[in-house]
This record gives sequence, structure tokens and C-alpha cells, in this order.
Amino acid sequence: MVDREVRLPPIVDLTKPNDARVYDYLLGGAHNFAVDRELARQAVAAMPVLRQVALSNRAFLHRVVRVCVHAGVRQFLDLGSGIPGLGNVHEVAQAIDPRCAVAYVDVDPVVHAHGQLILSDTPGTALINEDLMNAEAVLEHPAVRGLLDFDEPIAVLGMLALHFVPDERDPEGALATYRDALPVGSMLGLSHPAGDTTAEGVDEAIDVFSQGHMVPVARDLERLTGFFEGFELLEPGVTRVPNWRPDREGSEDVPVNGGLGVKSSR
Ligand SMILES: C[S@@+](CC[C@H](N)C(=O)[O-])C[C@H]1O[C@@H](n2cnc3c(N)ncnc32)[C@H](O)[C@@H]1O
Repeated sequence: MVDREVRLPPIVDLTKPNDARVYDYLLGGAHNFAVDRELARQAVAAMPVLRQVALSNRAFLHRVVRVCVHAGVRQFLDLGSGIPGLGNVHEVAQAIDPRCAVAYVDVDPVVHAHGQLILSDTPGTALINEDLMNAEAVLEHPAVRGLLDFDEPIAVLGMLALHFVPDERDPEGALATYRDALPVGSMLGLSHPAGDTTAEGVDEAIDVFSQGHMVPVARDLERLTGFFEGFELLEPGVTRVPNWRPDREGSEDVPVNGGLGVKSSR
């Protein structure tokens, strides 16, 4: 029996926790199962700020998307999108301009299975099951090429995704490939768990998440700033995400850094 009112894609295994569904649960979404909620509860017990991490990151994502659309960008390439459920990029962008197009990319076949059902009737969206590190494959994918016009500005987003890419895989190299494929006026928005945090329970939470299939790695602010090479950072630069153009006051130290840059020259 399926818990909650979720249409169940055939690939889904109810006995194994899935990181994207755990994240969906932390956000208050409906695309998760008992096994995911159990892992989320263990992780939150270890690291109490974790739910706030998910919520603050999502609020940052929304602010970034709005800034991009108000700057005239109408196209998005969302790398490591997670399950494109409630409050995702196309909803925020298309609420401002229904012509906005969003190509979602996620390596997880479970995300793909859930996402295909969610997006099946949504114009201006595509979802591909691909590793963001295979930048050429993403950029040449027929669904991406069919949706996005690479002669017009595109916002590439990598929100809470690159921490699943270890250094050996050269995340800077993949980001350079994306950057070089984009026209001037394109944007890069990134968020990443901060290495320099005093938040309680980070190591314990990483241990809990390692029961899932992806092992996260935190990086410091300087390293994340380097990920924006070739982009001019918009104010206030790379900061803790709640402090990036906040629309409300917050006091908690949410250990996630983020920023938004614009490609201003070839
Ligand atoms: C924490 S979720 C972030 C969701 C969304 N970007 C957000 O900020 O709300 C991270 C997602 O990144 C995906 N991911 C991890 N490594 C990836 C890779 N190498 N290529 C594509 N997706 C990846 C995971 O499958 C997961 O769905």
C-alpha cells in the first residue's frame, strides 16, 4: 500500500531511503515515503538546523529565480533539481512570466520517475535524467536543445547539488563547460553547504545521509566563490543564503552559502 496520496512510479523502491525524497519531506512536500521520513527524522535529530537548511535554501532559490526573471532572463537550466514538486523553479518563474522555460537535470532515476509524472502537463518544462558532471551530454541533450535557445541568456542553477560532487570529479571543470556554452547576460546561481560552520551535529547528519546513496561534502566560502569564475557576482556576493537579499529578518546560522553571478563578457 502506498502511504499518502502520491502516484507511484514503477521504479520506486519503498524499502530504501532516497535523498531527493528526504529533501522533499524536509521541505514539507508530498513525494516521500515512510523510509524517507525516518531517515529525515534521524538527520534532524542529529542536526536540528537541517529543516531550516532546506527551507532557507528553497527561499534563496526563489529569490534568485525572481532576480533572474526581473533581469530579463526567461530560461533556466536547473542542475541537481531534485523532485520538481511544490515551489519549484518553473512555478516561481512562470508566475512572473508564463513564457519562462525550465530544463531540469537530475542524476537520480527516482527523481526522473516522480518528475515525469509531475511535469507531464506542464508547458515550458523538460526533465532529463543525466549527471550534471556530463556537461556536454546535458548541453547537447535533445530535450534541453528543444526547450532552451542558446542564443538567448540562460540562468544555470546548481542549488544544494555540487556538494554531491567530490573534488576528484573537478566541479570547476564542468562549470567552465556550462559557462562557455552560455551567451553574455546569462547567470549562474549556486548554493552549497558551508565548511566553516559551528552548527550542531553536522558530522552526525553526514553519517545519517550516507545511508542514502550520496555522500555530501561541505566546502568553504572561498571555494564556492571560485565556482563563479567567469561570472560577475551580484551584490551581496557569496554569503550565507538567508543573508542574500533577504525578504525577512533571520537570526539562525544556516550553514549554506550561495550567490548569483552574471556572465558579462565572452
Ligand atoms: C538537496 S537536492 C536539491 C534540490 C534543489 N536543487 C533545491 O535546491 O531545492 C540535491 C539533488 O541533486 C541531485 N544530484 C546529486 N548529484 C548529482 C549529479 N552529479 N548530477 C545531477 N544531479 C545530482 C540529487 O539527486 C538531488 O535530487
